[in-house]
Amino acid sequence: MAINYHRTSHIFTLDTENTTYQMKVDDYGFLLHLYYGARISGDMDYLLTYFDRGFSGNPADAGTDRTYSMDALPQEYPAMGTGDYRNSALIIHNGDGSDCCDLRYVSHEIRQGKYGLVGLPAVYAGEEEAQTLEILLEDSVSKVQVRLLYGVLEEEDIITRSVKITNLGSEDVIVEKAAGACLDFLAGSYDLISFYGRHVMERSFQRREIAHGSFSIGSRRGASSHQYNPAVIIARRDTTEDTGGCYGMMFVYSGSFLCEAEKDQFDQTRVLMGLQRDLFHYTLERGEVLTVPETVLCYSDEGFAALSNRYHRCIRKHLFRGKYGQAMRPVLLNSWEAFYFDFDGEKICKLAKEAATLGMDMVVMDDGWFGKREDDNSGLGDWQVNEEKLGCSLGELIERINSLGVKFGIWIEPEMISEDSDLYRTHPDWVMRIPGRKPIHARNQLVLDFSRAEVRDHIFKQICGVLDQGNVEYVKWDMNRSISDIYSQERSPGKVAHDYMLGVYEFLENLMERYPNMLIEGCSGGGGRFDAGMMYYTPQIWCSDNTDALDRLKIQYGTSFFYPAASVGAHVSAVPNHQTGRRISLRTRGIVAMAGSGFGYELDPNHMTEREKEQIREQIAKYKRYAPLVFSGDYYRLSSPFDDVYTAWMFVSEDGGRALVSAVMTIQNGNNNMPVSYVRLKGLDRDALYEEPDSGRCYYGSALMEAGLPLPAELGEYLSYQIELNRKL
Ligand code: GLA
Repeated sequence: MAINYHRTSHIFTLDTENTTYQMKVDDYGFLLHLYYGARISGDMDYLLTYFDRGFSGNPADAGTDRTYSMDALPQEYPAMGTGDYRNSALIIHNGDGSDCCDLRYVSHEIRQGKYGLVGLPAVYAGEEEAQTLEILLEDSVSKVQVRLLYGVLEEEDIITRSVKITNLGSEDVIVEKAAGACLDFLAGSYDLISFYGRHVMERSFQRREIAHGSFSIGSRRGASSHQYNPAVIIARRDTTEDTGGCYGMMFVYSGSFLCEAEKDQFDQTRVLMGLQRDLFHYTLERGEVLTVPETVLCYSDEGFAALSNRYHRCIRKHLFRGKYGQAMRPVLLNSWEAFYFDFDGEKICKLAKEAATLGMDMVVMDDGWFGKREDDNSGLGDWQVNEEKLGCSLGELIERINSLGVKFGIWIEPEMISEDSDLYRTHPDWVMRIPGRKPIHARNQLVLDFSRAEVRDHIFKQICGVLDQGNVEYVKWDMNRSISDIYSQERSPGKVAHDYMLGVYEFLENLMERYPNMLIEGCSGGGGRFDAGMMYYTPQIWCSDNTDALDRLKIQYGTSFFYPAASVGAHVSAVPNHQTGRRISLRTRGIVAMAGSGFGYELDPNHMTEREKEQIREQIAKYKRYAPLVFSGDYYRLSSPFDDVYTAWMFVSEDGGRALVSAVMTIQNGNNNMPVSYVRLKGLDRDALYEEPDSGRCYYGSALMEAGLPLPAELGEYLSYQIELNRKL
């Protein structure tokens, strides 16, 4: 049993193969956190200490006992109003105007299988693969009930948490803040690793100490955002890629979020992950429930590499769904950087012809095919094919493309509307806007109120009307601005941001159900909604609008800490690169893009030389050989693009028999007078002999991992190397 409850000590123990999580219902009914970390045996309540702490309050139940204080004890789900002055996981505004919620244990249930969350993305597992613990807590005055949900995936070393808040009182309450998970640490010094960025430079790695005080990262943008990713690592200060303890908290949500880290007066650390509290005042009427999205927890005592690989496996096996959740993805050619808005049906067919001769599987017609859309100032919301522009119907276009042996994909941006559109002219009231104020524009577009069913239904019908015109095998779902003017004609403003996200999820679910064989690639100006929530619907996400190979090294490095290569959309684009002006060789661009299963091209091959086309053919053939390894292999970061002169990474098949090492020199100073870079490999079978098929050379796994491989000292900018290794039988 992964989950055990001890009747006399009231201790819950959640065991995975390598980790243990423990909590206890104490004498007053508070749920205290006892331990999370490497697997241990025994009851951990001996860790709790009781002192008369200055200026720390004691609950009335403790009577004259001045040593019992919620201000010092580690908690599972700390709520505002119990005498804990640290950051709260939950703030409830009661009908009488007070902000107080005193949660005490009522009951619990342990069951086989993993809980699901209605309307929200969540880790799923077979009946035999997981167990669920549900603990019911209640505030006896307001009758607010909180159900803490724990999913334990023993083999994967994964524990998930979610929370359901129900108002059973006679008055409305407002949830002012709700975290999905809290981790309290009694001792130790930790760093918080987070991933910050901006449009065209997402998920840069940042490591900083959780010192005294409190700091937060998050998003108020209505999307998880380019600026901060909703996944963090809490690492012991000496933890490295391969050694030391570290905890991951990955939020399975694509809207605004808040992660707070705090070190308190007693050197205890608390980290919370949950819904953003700004622009959020979630009214719960009697009987109403708010489900806080899931947080996926994982602990590794072998550094970041092991942590990353556990998350990668969890996402691939327990979040990805649909046909392409487990299938190799088509190599695609996207029209965006090839033509932007300047195309017609002929040009798309010419792309498809090139795609066919180069060995690509699919052509994607990006933005510009619908309504009046010659630039990004108009047309969003009018999801009717612009047949005049295409010179034919969509059905005819797809047939022509399919007859070349090439699949067809299309771009959509369902959540958005241009003021210059028929939809806006008919339904200006469908836009998110605050009465009496002019809404904020971004990319000259406004946001549709996806919290409203009639708005979603209209767009859904329109988009299905397009997709039903032919054999559409792929959709790129874009979202090209942050949400503002949070307001809805239908519900209280404090509910809109979250209900909007639920609306998006419902739409995606319906789309998946109606087109089960279609691949949906997520996108939000590249990686503005690159999160585990979206991966439940879109197992592939366009990683960044920045296709420059050098910048991609950093972006893909940061991405890899939580998200598998199987989720990464990465394309080879033309030079000079459209985002940076940099010229990087086709070889290096290819090697960098091969770090994602959403491998493809974003250029017009008609402008390429025969030699370049030949190189692309070879690249694709190579990629197809490596595709299963990239998709499901273990992933190792071999250096840091922020600190080292080269960036290297590798994939190793689960059985250790195959590996693919990639390296790019990012700093070059004085060819053979430079220090030699030795890339030390990871994850190989130490005793096995590996052959490099290109050179026929053989090396032992132990040698490659201990001493490494020297990178050649050659003249050139951003030179790259790709080394395949196969275990010799
Ligand atoms: C976003 C996407 C791009 C492209 C454009 C189209 O920026 O990230 O890849 O689809 O929109 O407008």
